[in-house]
Order: sequence, then C-alpha cells, then structure tokens
Amino acid sequence: MFANLHNLSHHAAWRRQLEMILESTGEGIYGIDLKGRCIFINEAGAVMLGYTPDEVLGRPMHYLIHHSHADETLMPVHECRIYQAFREGQGVRVDDEVLWRRDGSSFPAEYASYPIRDGETVVGAVVTFNDITERKRSARLQQEANDQLEKRVRERTAELTVAHDNLRQSNESLRRLAAHLNSVREEERRHIARDVHDELGAALTALQLEMSWLRHRLADDPALGGKLDSMLDIGDHAMQAVRRILNDLRPGILDHLGLWAALEGLLLDFQKRSGLSCSFVCSPEIERCRLGRDAEIALYRIVQEVLTNVSRHAQASRVELRVSATGRDLELLIADDGQGMRVPRQPTSFGLLGMRERTLALGGSLEIISSPGKGVRIMLRLPNVIA
Ligand SMILES: Nc1ncnc2c1ncn2[C@@H]1O[C@H](COP(=O)(O)OP(=O)(O)OP(=O)(O)O)[C@@H](O)[C@H]1O
Ligand SMILES: [Mg+2]
Repeated sequence: MFANLHNLSHHAAWRRQLEMILESTGEGIYGIDLKGRCIFINEAGAVMLGYTPDEVLGRPMHYLIHHSHADETLMPVHECRIYQAFREGQGVRVDDEVLWRRDGSSFPAEYASYPIRDGETVVGAVVTFNDITERKRSARLQQEANDQLEKRVRERTAELTVAHDNLRQSNESLRRLAAHLNSVREEERRHIARDVHDELGAALTALQLEMSWLRHRLADDPALGGKLDSMLDIGDHAMQAVRRILNDLRPGILDHLGLWAALEGLLLDFQKRSGLSCSFVCSPEIERCRLGRDAEIALYRIVQEVLTNVSRHAQASRVELRVSATGRDLELLIADDGQGMRVPRQPTSFGLLGMRERTLALGGSLEIISSPGKGVRIMLRLPNVIA
C-alpha cells in the first residue's frame, strides 16, 4: 500500500497514510505551532489526556496538559522543555515529568519533542508521549525490594558480627581457662611430687637403712638373712617406682638442669624403651638459655605427647628433635619417618589440641606438616624468647 509514493508527499493518499499511521500507534502524538497551540493530535494521545481530538485542537498545550510539576507547583512556560527545545531547534527526551488530564489528575509521562521544520525555519514541534505509570511503579517496587534486601543484608551482617564477636570472646575465655587449668594441674603435680618425695621417699630410705642394719646383725642366720635380702629387694623396687612416679609428676631434671637437658634425657629414655633411633640437636647458644618455669614445663609436656604419639601411631624407625634460634625466636622441630597422617584443618583430638593450646598460651604457633607415607614434622615457634 506504500508503493509508488515517490514525490507524492502532498498527495491525498499520502496524507491518508500518515493519518492512518498516527491513529494506529499506541503512543500519544501531537503537534504544536510556534505559539504552542495544538495543530494535530492522534486518538491515542487525546484518550490518554481524557479528551477527544477535537476538544484539544487549537488549545495551548502547555497550559492544558503541562502546566504543573508532579508536586503541583506551577511550571512557567519558559521552563517547559518542549518549548525550550523547539525554540533552540533541538530535540529533547524527558521521563521525569507529569502530564495533566482533563479531570485534574496527572500521570508520569515519557515524552520526546522534535522541531517541525519548513525548510530552514522551525514552525512548531511534534511531541510523542506515553503514560509510564506502570514502568515507574515497577521501578519503585524494584527499588523498594532492593532497599529491603539491603536492609536485611545490613541487619544480618550486624547480627553475624555480634555472633562472631561473642564466639571470639568465648573462644578466648575457653583458651584462658585451658591455660589456667594446665598451670593448676602442673602446680598440683608439683605439690604431690613434693609430698611423695618428702614423706614416702624419706620413709622408704629410713626403712632401707634399718633393714641394712638388721641384715648385718643377722649375718650368721642364713634363714632370717635370706628373708631380709628379699625384703631389701622389695624396698629397692618400691624406691625405683617412687622415682619413676616422681619423674612423671614433675621431672626434677627440669628444675635442676633446665629444659634442654630434660629433653635430651626424655629422648634417651624413649630410645631405650622404644628401640627407635633418636637424635637430639641443640645449638650451644640455646643450651645456655632458660625460658621460665611455665614455658619449660609446657614444652616438655608437648614433646612428651609427640613421643607418645610416635610410639603409638607412627611405626617409625627414627625420631629427630632439633632446637634452633632465628634471631630471638625459638624453633623446635620434632620429626619422625613413620607412616604419616592426614593433618586435620582444626584438630579435635585431645593430644594435638592440647599441644596447640599450650603453644598458643605461650604466644607461639604450632604447625603439623605431614601426609600419608611421609612421616610427621611438628614445628613449634616461640617468638622473642631468646635473651
Ligand atoms: N607421629 C604420628 N604419626 C602418625 N599418626 C599420628 C602421629 N601423631 C598423631 N597421629 C594421628 O593423629 C591422631 C590424633 O593424635 P592425638 O594425639 O590428638 O590423639 P591420640 O594420640 O589418638 O589420643 P590421645 O593423645 O588423646 O590419647 C592420632 O590418632 C593418629 O591417628
Ligand atoms: Mg596422643
């Protein structure tokens, strides 16, 4: 139907086609002359504004449909962007204003205004417009949903921060409690060791002296002398048991000769009992250094637990204990060549947990390096302890 319209812009058929297009579109379209009076409006546009096209024709459009802002304050004609645009001979596209209906209500509109030119001269403007109530409503709903979501996220983040803080505080309390219980236990052990040593040890020694005296007196009586010999043997065994118990409770060597000698002794003893080959390497500057009673007993207990683990789980043939210094930091490495283990991210078993807690209580760090078949290396670092 659009065929053969070449050079026929004034032809009645051409005008008819244009009218049909204008009337068929869902958008409102109107034209104004230089004075702002309506020179045409399509049906859709008039309906959107609550008029018939005839009621609008010839009317000043600004005063009819664009006179006020959304908050009902007046929009002077010199602020009207439709006018501004065609006076400057330019197009404009706007979506933040309202148009007014015949019944006094308004609707958010998107409109575009372009100058109508006759040759070089602007003779008016054509305005296309749309009711964008729905679009604005869904944008507002979207914004409200976003705001709600952001509010929820902020509230949830705040809740999580509080929960995290509480958790951190309980962790710290538990850690302090564990450290306190450890030192109470060590103190208790020291007391028991002192009582056992002073009372039981002294009584056994006195008993042994008395029995030796009696043995001399009964040198000529083989029957009673033999009885006394076996009593002396029992006394010896009891004395050895007391020494062993004392050593477990509180290794005396720790107090007298210090940690490094105590660790060497522990390793020698372990070698004797387990049959594993053990080596102890400690640099001379460390041998001279004392760490204080709490730190020394803690390190001693950690090495004790590591060695117990080696004998129980590792199936190793060698154990090495190496103590070295980097600046003022102490490094203690215990390595075995056994079957290794999968290292848990967070230890839950009490042996490993106890080692970690004791190290943390000293302000240090403990690293377990292992994988199946590769042995276990335990690296303990204490910062700033070397004088
Ligand atoms: N040197 C090691 N070689 C191989 N596996 C080890 C070694 N040390 C620890 N493990 C593994 O790590 C686990 C945890 O050790 P942990 O000392 O915490 O507990 P445990 O020795 O089993 O029991 P507990 O020490 O409480 O009596 C062990 O059960 C063992 O499987
Ligand atoms: Mg263990």
